Amino acid sequence: MLARTIIEPFRIKSVEPIRWTTRLQREHRMQAAHYNLFLLPAEDVLIDLLTDSGTGAMSTHQWAALMEGDESYAGSRSFVHFSASVQDIFGYRHVIPTHQGRAAERILFSVMCKKGDVVPNNTHFDTTRANIEFVGAEAVDLVISEGRQPSLHHPFKGNMDVAALETLIQRVGRERVPLVMLTITNNSGGGQPVSMRNAREVSAICRKYRIPLYFDACRFAENSWFIKLREEGYANKTPKQIAQEMFLLGDGCTMSAKKDGMANIGGFLCTNDDKLAQQEKNLLILTEGYPTYGGLAGRDLEAIAVGLQEALEEDYLRYRIASTAYLGDHISQQGIPIVQPPGGHAVYIDARAFLPHIPPEQFPAVALATELYLQGGIRSVEIGTLMFGAAATMDLVRLAIPRRVYTQSHIDYVIEVILEVWKNRGRIRGMHLTYEAPFLRHFTARLEPVTATSLVAAEEAVLTR
Ligand code: F0G
Repeated sequence: MLARTIIEPFRIKSVEPIRWTTRLQREHRMQAAHYNLFLLPAEDVLIDLLTDSGTGAMSTHQWAALMEGDESYAGSRSFVHFSASVQDIFGYRHVIPTHQGRAAERILFSVMCKKGDVVPNNTHFDTTRANIEFVGAEAVDLVISEGRQPSLHHPFKGNMDVAALETLIQRVGRERVPLVMLTITNNSGGGQPVSMRNAREVSAICRKYRIPLYFDACRFAENSWFIKLREEGYANKTPKQIAQEMFLLGDGCTMSAKKDGMANIGGFLCTNDDKLAQQEKNLLILTEGYPTYGGLAGRDLEAIAVGLQEALEEDYLRYRIASTAYLGDHISQQGIPIVQPPGGHAVYIDARAFLPHIPPEQFPAVALATELYLQGGIRSVEIGTLMFGAAATMDLVRLAIPRRVYTQSHIDYVIEVILEVWKNRGRIRGMHLTYEAPFLRHFTARLEPVTATSLVAAEEAVLTR
């Protein structure tokens, strides 16, 4: 076949204007937002790469499905459509709708974990870690060592270190490990996939110690596509067959339908365990809603039912993964340090390597994300010392690409802005905190650029502690 440009597999039926601002306006906006991009009004952003979560464009089929929404409180027809679509792919016995992924996490960990427990994962996402810690358990990241080295190429950098998993279980005792989680793709580790082989090995250890395995399945379709491209024996399988095979290795999952559910809101929790499902549904009723809607409208359930299937379409996945690689490859060819290879939903710039003059305690990734906004109105997100504190092993700026939203020329513009910032990187200063919340501090933190006087003040604060 001719190697032609991989194009967006859709045409645009409805458009949403975006707004230009001047550099001076952006400087004022940034000051007013205390140098925290989460605190910025979205209309002051030109290209919003803060997250791929809930920011995708729905298809005509999804919009049509919305009208089919059955808003009955109990026994809604939309729930039947929703659970049939979920079961077709995931195969688990119980499907519990939630308003988004973290609600599924909160319910799962409330039911399964207690103080002193340990939950291994390849890398916990921030809400996953916070929900585990909230019940007094410990979240342990066991990604393979290759997954912690940004510039290293490896086809499945999201894999779990299987030997480390077994050592951990033996050290703390299996009764303290209520479940093992596997995040596909590994978001906090660079949007990197987990291989089928690794999932099989993790599953075998879980079976050996009789510990349930749960998938954090947010980006399961992208993970399936990487397996098809990169793992021997999967080239001729469909993404859906690959997903089905992977989910068979586990006992349940948490899911944010805001990612590979192609919806703007929603999520679910699945399990094969009848007793757990009962407890989970009881908790669901307490805070989310009745088990046939779980905090969602009937129309949301319909949009997700369609979206999950669309996320597995080959034309879509080919374009999706190619367009993320397009951004990553263009900037890395110019010498910009990124997590290699580019992830499924996002490109991650290695801010420690981009700004070697800024130490981690001065939040190099926050400094870089700030500059991308000031230079070109681009919003990204820090995944590093601000998000994870001293536990952060990398300081990354994530450029997350919303699904089916931006075209190639938008991405070309993003590349231009990043290259401009790269040229002038020596001028970028570190940041220091002026306010932080006790957990998930990155959402509300306030910061300021480090100046000579603020450095002295920070040193004095350390000395007088
Ligand atoms: N797990 C992973 C791997 C995630 O990436 C997210 C969300 C969640 C769980 C929680 O899902 O937002 O629906 O409650 N990630 C978004 C992001 C917010 O920007 O990466 P949620």
